[in-house]
Amino acid sequence: MAQIEPNKSGFIGVFDSGIGGLSVLQALRAEMPQERFVYWADRGFAPYGERSDEFVIERSHFVTQQLLAQGSLKALVVACNTATAVAIESLRATFPNLAFIGVEPALKPALAQTQTLRVGVMGTQGTLSSLRFDKLLRSVLADAKPKTCEFVLQACKGLALAIEQQTEKSLEDTQALEDLCAQHVQCMGSFGLEPGQIDTLVLGCTHYVFVQDILRKLVGPDVNIISTGEAVAKQTKRLTTPTSSHTETTKVSNQIQLWTTGSLEALQLAASRWLDLPAHHCQLFQTPSAK
Ligand code: DGL
Repeated sequence: MAQIEPNKSGFIGVFDSGIGGLSVLQALRAEMPQERFVYWADRGFAPYGERSDEFVIERSHFVTQQLLAQGSLKALVVACNTATAVAIESLRATFPNLAFIGVEPALKPALAQTQTLRVGVMGTQGTLSSLRFDKLLRSVLADAKPKTCEFVLQACKGLALAIEQQTEKSLEDTQALEDLCAQHVQCMGSFGLEPGQIDTLVLGCTHYVFVQDILRKLVGPDVNIISTGEAVAKQTKRLTTPTSSHTETTKVSNQIQLWTTGSLEALQLAASRWLDLPAHHCQLFQTPSAK
């Protein structure tokens, strides 16, 4: 399919089922400090990873329409592996004039880095059971030949929601979250640099970046942990930045607006914690059918 040329003016939309995509927004903000971003946390409808494809497609279309309604949307970053896996093709077909940038588990970079040829992949059930992920995995395995790399997939039930809840309660006590991470990590097997061990861990859900410190303690200091925020930010910049020099000097914090379909207070906590943004950047989108 021909690549869509995005508008070179206006704002960049970013969306996720909740706060996970803020990990991508962090990278976008660092890569494009003068850009204007509008972020949508569809928290009233999370977690996407444990919902049907139809549900995620419907929500992704709704969010796209809401962001389009806000003015000149020049590109939309689907900062959610699940929505990318399940809905991006339908979004591209329905909104052919809008440039979509998706995120997917970084299997290719993992293959390039692994020495033991065992890679752990953490993702949602929705992502790991999708046709799009299956296609990606097959193509990476085909590229790996004649080496045989094993990808150990772990559908991390409950983890994205637990990360949301941890932020919402602003709890210092992370024991429950640590226990859940430990359960999922143990299911994948042994981590380390010895033959037969997993030496590379792919974070295939944007939420998991926020438990990277916990995961690091569990897998040890030598394991590569790979996320996708930076790569997505670079690709977004390449697609959206005009070739002429950009001299705008407006403050970064004036350029970001965040919406949620969940709790405004929770988004404010997350925005302050992860992006150092004051509360007035956050707004509540009230929808009669929000659950
Ligand atoms: N952050 C999302 C992802 O990257 C979705 C998590 C969820 O809502 O289940 O898959």
